[in-house]
Amino acid sequence: MTHNPNIVWHPAAIKKSDRQSLNGHKSCALWFTGLSGSGKSVLANAVDEKLYRMGIRSYVLDGDNIRHGLNQDLGFRTEDRIENIRRIGEVAKLFVDSGQMILTAFISPFREDRDMVRALFPNGEFLEIYVKCPLQICEQRDPKGLYKKARNGDIKHFTGIDSPYEAPLSPDLIIESDQTSITDGADLIIKELQRKGII
Ligand code: ADX
Repeated sequence: MTHNPNIVWHPAAIKKSDRQSLNGHKSCALWFTGLSGSGKSVLANAVDEKLYRMGIRSYVLDGDNIRHGLNQDLGFRTEDRIENIRRIGEVAKLFVDSGQMILTAFISPFREDRDMVRALFPNGEFLEIYVKCPLQICEQRDPKGLYKKARNGDIKHFTGIDSPYEAPLSPDLIIESDQTSITDGADLIIKELQRKGII
C-alpha cells in the first residue's frame, strides 16, 4: 500500500535511545517461529518471566491471544496470515521504539513475511528464533487437539498438514524443543541477549 501524501510523520520528542537509557537496557524483538505445538508460546513466556525477574521491561504477543482481539478479523488463508504477520511486525516495532523487549509467538510460516518484518528493524533489533520440533512430535503433543481435527479434515489449511511451513534458512538462534527443556531453552536465549549486549 502506498503512503498518503497528506499524512505527515510527526517526530517524537522523546527518542528510543532516551527510553532505553531510562530503562537501563536496549530493546529488541525476539521473533519466535515454528509449528503449532512446537513450544513457541511456552518458551517466549519462560524468557519473559526471566527478563521480568531481572528487572527488564518485556511483553509477549501470542498468536492465539492476538487472534482474539487485534487480529480477530483474520483467518488462516495465505493473505490473512500475511496480514497477521505484517500487523504484528508493526506492533513489535512500536514496542521496540518504546524501549521494551517484545517477544512474539506466531507460527509465521512464510519466509518472505518474516524477512519483511526483519526489514522493519535496524540491524540487531530483531532476532529470529526458530523453535524447531519435528511435525510428528507436535502432532503427538497436540495440546489443543487441532492436529487431530486437521487430519480428520475438520480444519482446513492447517500448518504442517495441508498448509506449508517454511523453516528459517539462517535464524539467529535455533532451540530444538524436543531435545531441550524449557528452562534450558530460555537460558540459551537470555545468554544470547547478554552476549549481544542487549541486556
Ligand atoms: S500464523 O500462521 O498466522 O502465524 P498464528 O500463530 O497467528 O498463525 O496462529 C496459530 C494458532 O492458531 C495455532 O497455534 C493454532 O492454535 C490455531 N489455529 C487454528 N487454525 C489453524 C490453522 N489452520 N493453521 C495453523 N494454526 C491454526
